[in-house]
Amino acid sequence: MKLMVIGGGGREHAIIKALKKNKQVEEIFCLPGNGGIAADATCVNIGAKDIEAQVAFAKEHAIDYCVVAPDDPLALGAVDALTAAGVPCFGPDAKAAVIEASKAFSKDLMKKYSIPTAAYETFTDCAAACRYLDTCTAPIVVKADGLALGKGVIIAQTIEEAKDAVHSMMEDKVFGASGNCVVIEEFLTGPEVSVLSFTDGETVIPMVSSMDHKRAMDNDEGLNTGGMGTIAPNPFYTKEIAEECMQTIFLPTIRAMKAEGRQFKGCLYFGLMLTPKGPKVIEYNCRFGDPETQVVLPLLESDLLTIMQATTNGTLAQTEVKFSTGAACCVVMASKGYPASYEKGFEIIMTEEAAATTYVAGAVLKEGKLLTSGGRVLGVTATAADLPTAIRNAYGLVEGVRFDNAYYRHDIGGRALKALEG
Ligand code: AMP
Ligand code: GLY
Repeated sequence: MKLMVIGGGGREHAIIKALKKNKQVEEIFCLPGNGGIAADATCVNIGAKDIEAQVAFAKEHAIDYCVVAPDDPLALGAVDALTAAGVPCFGPDAKAAVIEASKAFSKDLMKKYSIPTAAYETFTDCAAACRYLDTCTAPIVVKADGLALGKGVIIAQTIEEAKDAVHSMMEDKVFGASGNCVVIEEFLTGPEVSVLSFTDGETVIPMVSSMDHKRAMDNDEGLNTGGMGTIAPNPFYTKEIAEECMQTIFLPTIRAMKAEGRQFKGCLYFGLMLTPKGPKVIEYNCRFGDPETQVVLPLLESDLLTIMQATTNGTLAQTEVKFSTGAACCVVMASKGYPASYEKGFEIIMTEEAAATTYVAGAVLKEGKLLTSGGRVLGVTATAADLPTAIRNAYGLVEGVRFDNAYYRHDIGGRALKALEG
């Protein structure tokens, strides 16, 4: 089989490494991929948002199955266009991808179907939003409606700060059209859990739970990033909570999307907060999380391609989805300065052992050398029978990766370990 994966980060690298385990897979093309992914797939210089070129490439190369990984092409209708061209795909169509692409849509969906989430109001008028804020108490959360590279969420500590955020989103358009509409919502507290799930629109099968570490520096200090590391499973997510989430969140969401004529197929990501009043949805993503995928897929024991095809064909209920009972830890190595400005172009040297379970996010190949080209450069993952060992092994592997200006957190999994110790 010939496969095509759209995207070019650590998540896509982890997906490709998992797909390669299937003996039927002859070749994988990655559009656009990156210098590190090139070790595992044929990278093609077609952008993740260039849907026309993706369709043309898929037809020319007789692609049997395509995985659309990032949010942008999903929201733009890559799955719709490829499917129409006869290429079966993993991922939701544009109508279903709106669950991530519009926070106003997802909040209204949760309200309509009584799915637990933070209380909120939606505004398309800046003055009305500010008048509403005068009735609120801080801290309060302001979110741009559309896609904003994970940066469209402001936790305001004062009402003034919240108003500033509303002005910069709605008037100064710091997130472009994504800020035409804002959601103002209640500030929730509690441990956060990421639950990725496979769904064919009828059946939903959660993957092993995970925990992201979004802040740039140790002890959750510094700026928000795309994610500096992950662990799985998330010790805060007990069996009882998982069962509750299935009944109050996962199944109701899948049924709600179907009832709205937006049947969701692919990976639906539930960003949850375990509040004192029970689990609530912080956000939905219409795709695999990054860097959650880098700890979740290494624990998958069943065949990824078979499961993905079952979500497309509507046969997930008859398909085995089995995860190991072990644990995984991914430590992201970034360029010093990320998520603000940083230098790039430094050579990356890895031991063979580290390279085997490293997922490359931001690197280019130049004259046979792998050079850093992004803020998040790569994620080093280790799996083990238990979480403390996985964490220790991941940091052990980090020792085998070198590049100038490398920066990483030293406490990935620290909070999880404390929870395990009780
Ligand atoms: P999001 O991009 O929606 O995942 O939001 C980014 C981060 O902001 C989340 O991972 C949470 O840590 C935080 N956050 C979002 N919404 C809320 C909320 N209502 N209360 C508290 N924290 C929130
Ligand atoms: N790690 C969070 C996300 O992928 O959006």
